[in-house]
Amino acid sequence: MSKTYKPHPDTTQKAHISSLEQYKKIYNESISNPEEFWAKIAERIDWYQPWNKVREYDFVNGKIEWFSNGKLNASYNCLDRHVNNGYGDETAIIWEGNDPNQSRTFTYKELLKEVSQFANGLKDLGVKKGDRVCLYMQMIPELAIAVLACARIGAVHSVVFGAFSSDALRDRINDSACKILVTQDTGVRGIKQNIPMKANADQAVLHTPSIEYVIVVKRTGEPVHMDVERDIWWHESISNVDDKCKPEEMDSEDPLFILYTSGSTGKPKGVVHSSAGYMIYSSYTFLNVFQYDEDDIYWCTADVGWITGHSYIVYGPLLCGATTLMFEGVPTYPNVSRFWDIVDKYKVNQFYTAPTAIRALQAHGLEPLENNSLDSLKVIGSVGEPINEEAWHWYHDNVGKGKCPLVDTWWQTETGGIMISALAGITPNKPAHASLPLPGIIPVIVDAEGNELNGNNVQGNLCIKSPWPSIIRTTYGDHERCISTYFSNYKGMYFTGDGVKRDHDGYLRILGRVDDVINVSGHRMGTAEVENAINEHEDVIESAVVGYPHDIKGEGIYAYVIVSTELNDDEIKDQIINVVRKVIGPIAKPDKIQIVSGLPKTRSGKIMR
Ligand code: WT7
Repeated sequence: MSKTYKPHPDTTQKAHISSLEQYKKIYNESISNPEEFWAKIAERIDWYQPWNKVREYDFVNGKIEWFSNGKLNASYNCLDRHVNNGYGDETAIIWEGNDPNQSRTFTYKELLKEVSQFANGLKDLGVKKGDRVCLYMQMIPELAIAVLACARIGAVHSVVFGAFSSDALRDRINDSACKILVTQDTGVRGIKQNIPMKANADQAVLHTPSIEYVIVVKRTGEPVHMDVERDIWWHESISNVDDKCKPEEMDSEDPLFILYTSGSTGKPKGVVHSSAGYMIYSSYTFLNVFQYDEDDIYWCTADVGWITGHSYIVYGPLLCGATTLMFEGVPTYPNVSRFWDIVDKYKVNQFYTAPTAIRALQAHGLEPLENNSLDSLKVIGSVGEPINEEAWHWYHDNVGKGKCPLVDTWWQTETGGIMISALAGITPNKPAHASLPLPGIIPVIVDAEGNELNGNNVQGNLCIKSPWPSIIRTTYGDHERCISTYFSNYKGMYFTGDGVKRDHDGYLRILGRVDDVINVSGHRMGTAEVENAINEHEDVIESAVVGYPHDIKGEGIYAYVIVSTELNDDEIKDQIINVVRKVIGPIAKPDKIQIVSGLPKTRSGKIMR
């Protein structure tokens, strides 16, 4: 049986919710009177015009509104508000480059200036409120600047993870008809010194009729092709602009961004988040889960290309006036102590990473930790997939030194913010358990027929009853898909796609996906999406992809493939891997390919996984 760890007294005093009793009280209030509860929290940010209704929803039609008819701006609340309150000289972003001797910092004042300039640059190119702007970049400061610049002028950003292939980029640009693509010359990550970002972008925009301009950040100075009509250097786009830019007044429900994620079908869906609800929920959860305190240095190792980076590198921390660290590199470069060197270098107080990174570092033993004190750490966090008990203990004992609360945060691209998690130092930790819902969140366990399973010691599918402010609003261009994926399986509830167990203490333990989605290194992959990619090889007749347990990645990708080919097995396997890299990107490449002569099918001809 797992033992529970008592909260550390140091972290019990701070932030908003400050004790387990208070959490329970606030939780109950948030459920019995959600409108009053969220209205109070929404008052903490600045509005041009207050809302006239806190929430309105109809799950049958997937229609959800929060803070109706309120007017506000996300970039204003992330930047101007703090500058106006006298925090302009506080550090907003610390950027640590791939090479340890490269770093930059931005105060709130400086960031406001950079964001305003780029916002004006975008406006000069004709970008208007509601236009979509695609950001295809590595973890460079300009990515955060571009995100906030879009928010400032009301353009909807769609960040595409920098390791996606040009085909994947093209499809995402086309799905939401982006007008501008922002990228960089080449990228550096670990030992890779020239990741061909602009070249990939060039390939993609050959078939994206909506793209009018491509803006290119000079990151490495490597020569790249520039089309004189279409391509503009970032630094030139801001060379003649004003450094002030009036924020656009956005409606609470105006979309803030689109972020593509995998589902059960072959086509990724564009998850759309709103302006007000997303801001309120991401900032509230940031403060309370991590117990962020003034002057803390907070570091989330995720990539801004995923929701974790949106909510807990950019928006959540900046909305709270925090100092957020952004890291361009990888945990193993120049050596496997890199994470710990950065923690000591900046005296990081909150450290938030993924189980796959922990397991990868665990495999190198304790030596890489020996020369680091890690004394500054107060809170450590985990996200992206279930954290197994062994990794939990290794992380808790050796990184947190047994004194830092470990928050295992369960949430999804669609939820916008953390839904189930311990509050650092407040909720007693239990290894491998995400634990308890955040205020305002009602998790429900249902069986296959949709019956609610109440009480403890039950297991089933995880649904959420009633909406929270940052719930998905639609899937871009296809609202029916949003309804059928999330609101149709179980009447009157949001369906998460995850299995869950409530233990004898009432703690929730996430068991993983129950749909055709696998979780590879904390990245969500639709099996159908990988199959579609494999099937693009002309010698492939049919394929079936499943997940299998993988020591480091959590789940690996296992592909069964029927081929008709002259090539030998090794040759065809190599070619299949290359096709997947080209169609999706390296994250989707199968770990194991088995050439088979047939696949088990149901009577109706569907492949049985
Ligand atoms: C899926 C969502 C949300 C941030 C990154 C992933 C799995 C996420 C946990 C956790 C167990 C987790 C779920 C979820 N997941 N966090 N703490 N414990 N599972 O976002 O790509 O939208 O994937 O990741 O299966 O449904 P995503």
